[in-house]
Amino acid sequence: MSVELKKEAAAAALELVEEGMRLGIGTGSTADEFSKLLGAKVASGFKITGVPTSERTHALCTSMSIPLTTLEEMPELDMVVDGADEVDHQFQLIKGGGGALLREKIVANAAEKMIVIADDSKLVDTLGAFPLPIEVNPFGFKATWKAVEKACAGLGLEGPLNLRGGDEPFVTDGGHYIIDASFGHISDASALSDRLLNIPGVVEHGLFLGYADVVILAGEKGVRQL
Ligand code: A5P
Repeated sequence: MSVELKKEAAAAALELVEEGMRLGIGTGSTADEFSKLLGAKVASGFKITGVPTSERTHALCTSMSIPLTTLEEMPELDMVVDGADEVDHQFQLIKGGGGALLREKIVANAAEKMIVIADDSKLVDTLGAFPLPIEVNPFGFKATWKAVEKACAGLGLEGPLNLRGGDEPFVTDGGHYIIDASFGHISDASALSDRLLNIPGVVEHGLFLGYADVVILAGEKGVRQL
């Protein structure tokens, strides 16, 4: 996705942001474009209060002088604007390619509305071509891995699992590891979600089901709001 398309999707989302909103701010290259545009608007006097979904977004927003707070101070938000790795026609998402899925989901859950910004190549008929990030506690993660394999096999999902970062595991903002599961095709996202969340070592997964309210897709033919 070109930076221009990311900017177009971000600009369309910015139009939905109203003065005074309590706003969740997403993570990823598309969400970064949103933060930059928001920063410029804030510099011209527009007032919002933001809650970032990652340390990375916190740093970017701070550099743009966007007023920030935490969910401890502001546990209910009006809206969150975030990217996605895949979106299907039921507005189910895969997120977490940037590793921020846990905070992204906590913030999305605290927000009344979720606006997703992406390029139209991310719209898919069935989720799963993008590897599903599964955030796991480092304690006993190999046992968790086995449990994930077993749970997924029960649904006929047998694609390879990879520890993100390999020998030097990627560590999330919450201090966890990520297993990327390449299933290819997830026919029942809801059943997979339930199975994964039933495993003690699984902290969260990147299936966002029932969160997205508006999907803004930028493409060669312009910006579409679904
Ligand atoms: C971050 O953890 C992710 O959920 C991102 O929101 C998602 O990967 C989209 O990122 P890009 O906008 O960089 O494609």
